[in-house]
Amino acid sequence: MSIRIEEALVADGELVAAFRRLLPQLSASAKEIEAYDLESIVASPATMLLMARDENDEYVGTLTLVLFRSPSGARGWIEDVIVDENSRGNGVGEALVDEAIRQAQKANARTLDLTSNPTREAANRLYVRCGFEERTTNVYRFSLEG
Ligand SMILES: CC(C)(COP(=O)(O)OP(=O)(O)OC[C@H]1O[C@@H](n2cnc3c(N)ncnc32)[C@H](O)[C@@H]1OP(=O)(O)O)[C@@H](O)C(=O)NCCC(=O)NCCS
Repeated sequence: MSIRIEEALVADGELVAAFRRLLPQLSASAKEIEAYDLESIVASPATMLLMARDENDEYVGTLTLVLFRSPSGARGWIEDVIVDENSRGNGVGEALVDEAIRQAQKANARTLDLTSNPTREAANRLYVRCGFEERTTNVYRFSLEG
């Protein structure tokens, strides 16, 4: 399978359709994404929406890379890694993560972080294969929804 990774720069109908197909494969509780949601992500200087296309030019995967500065240095964060279920097992996830690593290096980030639920076995294997190491730290969340 030949895979091309690109940064989405325009929130057009094709991108919206791709996210409406991909997002439910990450989270059953994700609300339906609208064009304006994607427009604000694409327009944000801190966020890179990396998209994978297959040989038919179809979107088959996505990864969101956030690059930011804090007083301790430049850092990166990965969110929402999703590969379409029909395209899994072909290295699409690896190609997305590798590109995120390249972009974080280019931005001189000191670290690139992500979290992944241990039940996501394919994802956890993927991150380790790409060079991520498990950290011992407590992960907290304050929910602002509802
Ligand atoms: C995790 C995920 C992004 C991996 O994408 P991918 O393109 O299949 O990744 P890769 O091909 O690089 O490798 C994934 C591993 O899963 C295996 N795999 C997963 N689904 C498969 C399928 N349908 N057929 C064959 N192999 C599959 C691959 O063989 C590979 O196994 P290995 O680590 O033992 O070599 C994808 O499974 C996915 O979108 N899952 C649902 C959402 C999710 O959990 N996202 C991560 C959030 S932290």
